[in-house]
Amino acid sequence: MTKQMPRRMSMPRPFLKWVGGKGQLLNELLAQVDRAGKFHRYHEPFVGGGALFFELVRTGRMPAAKAYLSDNNANLIAVYRGVREDVDRVIALLLEHKRKHSEKHYYEVRARAPKDDIDQAARIIYLNKTGYNGLYRENSQGKYNVPFGRYKNPGICDEENLRAVAKALQKAKLEVRHFAKVLDCVDKGDFVYFDPPYHPVSKTASFTGYDKGGFSEDFQRLLAKIAEDLDARGVRVLLSNSMTPLVKELYAKFTIDEVFANRNVNSRGDRRGKISEALIRNF
Ligand SMILES: C[S@@+](CC[C@H](N)C(=O)[O-])C[C@H]1O[C@@H](n2cnc3c(N)ncnc32)[C@H](O)[C@@H]1O
Repeated sequence: MTKQMPRRMSMPRPFLKWVGGKGQLLNELLAQVDRAGKFHRYHEPFVGGGALFFELVRTGRMPAAKAYLSDNNANLIAVYRGVREDVDRVIALLLEHKRKHSEKHYYEVRARAPKDDIDQAARIIYLNKTGYNGLYRENSQGKYNVPFGRYKNPGICDEENLRAVAKALQKAKLEVRHFAKVLDCVDKGDFVYFDPPYHPVSKTASFTGYDKGGFSEDFQRLLAKIAEDLDARGVRVLLSNSMTPLVKELYAKFTIDEVFANRNVNSRGDRRGKISEALIRNF
């Protein structure tokens, strides 16, 4: 049933706007998941906004086994944990933010440290819905630093979707983890989707937007080695990246399909264009 429903109307959907969010490639990604056939556990080591995870749940494709979701951003994982732990309180706090919403309130919320994961969930969802451009960005100290956005009527609390998200997360393992740790918990018959910060298309393009630390070429190489290791173990691997000479070289043994998405392509992020992306698979 759910499969036929338009994406905007059924739930759960991603509830954060995230750099590199995969909303646009969902149909291509779903086609690849279907091609992979039945799998045991699902792993997403760069979960971000979780577009594919929520889509698999929404369309009834998620197997009964536990899903493993991780990211090295501790604030993000705290949000997921908070929503899972007590969605009623997250909603109550969000409604309070909605009542108090103003530029002054925004900067006060931004400046203060969260009390717990539930408070952090409401805090980051609120800032994400009302901040400039609605994106999550941190400075070098890991502090959220997006300025106030001037929206007329920002949708601060989508109660129904948050409840569906909380339900989807009940059976997920949520960890703050470097992607290489995926090797510790994956077995034959599992499915892994890697959506790393993309390899930059040019030296000047700050294409990935990850200000903190960046994602080096060494990390791209390490990731490709991990993908090969998983392949040798009988794990189905799907990976997205930009279509660059390095990416083509690193995944020469895998199948690479070219897909197109609209992305911010220059360093100021204010010009958009159609970018060729690579969907890489071993099945
Ligand atoms: C392209 S985004 C994923 C977007 C996600 N698929 C979505 O739909 O929103 C990449 C993610 O990798 C995370 N990341 C960056 N470096 C990492 C690392 N070394 N280990 C694990 N996660 C990392 C970032 O925090 C970010 O959330």
